[in-house]
Amino acid sequence: MSLPQRTPAPRDPRSLTFLQGAKPPVQDAAAALRAGLLAARAAIPPRFFYDELGSRLFAAITALDAYYPTRTEARVMQDHLPAIAAALPVTGCTLVDVGAGNCEKAAGLFATVQPSRYVAVDISTEFLRDALLQLQRRFPAIEMCGVATDFAQRLELPPAVPPGRRLFFYPGSSIGNFSPPQAVLFLQSLREQMRGDGVLWIGVDLQKPTAILERAYDDELGVTAAFNKNVLQHVNRLAGTDFDVRDWRHVAFYDEAIGRIEMHLEAARAVEVRWPGGARSFGAGERIHTENSYKYTTDGFGRLLADAGLRSAGCWTDPQGWFGVFVAEPR
Ligand code: AVI
Repeated sequence: MSLPQRTPAPRDPRSLTFLQGAKPPVQDAAAALRAGLLAARAAIPPRFFYDELGSRLFAAITALDAYYPTRTEARVMQDHLPAIAAALPVTGCTLVDVGAGNCEKAAGLFATVQPSRYVAVDISTEFLRDALLQLQRRFPAIEMCGVATDFAQRLELPPAVPPGRRLFFYPGSSIGNFSPPQAVLFLQSLREQMRGDGVLWIGVDLQKPTAILERAYDDELGVTAAFNKNVLQHVNRLAGTDFDVRDWRHVAFYDEAIGRIEMHLEAARAVEVRWPGGARSFGAGERIHTENSYKYTTDGFGRLLADAGLRSAGCWTDPQGWFGVFVAEPR
């Protein structure tokens, strides 16, 4: 005879907690952007891609046939979830979703990982609020908390984050948008937040033929080009610049020796960009560097984890070896 299943009492969605972590002042963003434009090699940090339109364009990128990382990571998770979960002795843990977005990727783990608490970390609470309210209705037994914080350099969770052994979930290969030394610093900050007994689940895009990589970052529909150019509209709003997106071309290429995709915006003609108190002239063909996306080998990423004081407890890939899911613990 099977015992009747106990349905957990539904949680009041108003009991969701929202915490505000570190947030750089808008003034800093304008100053940093203007300094980046004046540098000998002009650059715009990739975190400025993600205004509202940029976030929608990124979501569209993940649905492109050309952009293999999202679906390949999903396949690795689908094919290996039981094995990966077996490497995570964390039932009843606090699942910390780094860069949670719409929280859907983490929600796909709930049935297998069975966390007691879910902490969704992202840059803004607005997006998190709707996603968490919906999730709380679907999973009333899990205590949920949203943390809005800027984790561009390191992750620091506010002290009021719910307790429990922590499983950090960092999918999507966003680690590839840090340079390797920055990635080590970021992973060290995760290691500190793991407090000795935590575990990290991290998705990493792997090295593969140049043609596949370059198509993923210069797709035939021009969605990645729109994503790249849209950063100029965001910079106009934040730094008071007068970029005209029609003056700029999307450029993306793979540097095989370094193992990274570079994205740039290239001036289609000579342009002067002005802002209150400053200006910069760009010659035709001059570029603004907007993003790097590092691609690792499984061994190379294992070394990066070791440099951050972490030990790989397992790595799973798709049959082509295009994308890796690593589980790591403090050494
Ligand atoms: C968010 N990040 C992992 C993406 C990547 O593939 O590096 C950002 C991106 N840039 C262009 N396409 C996607």
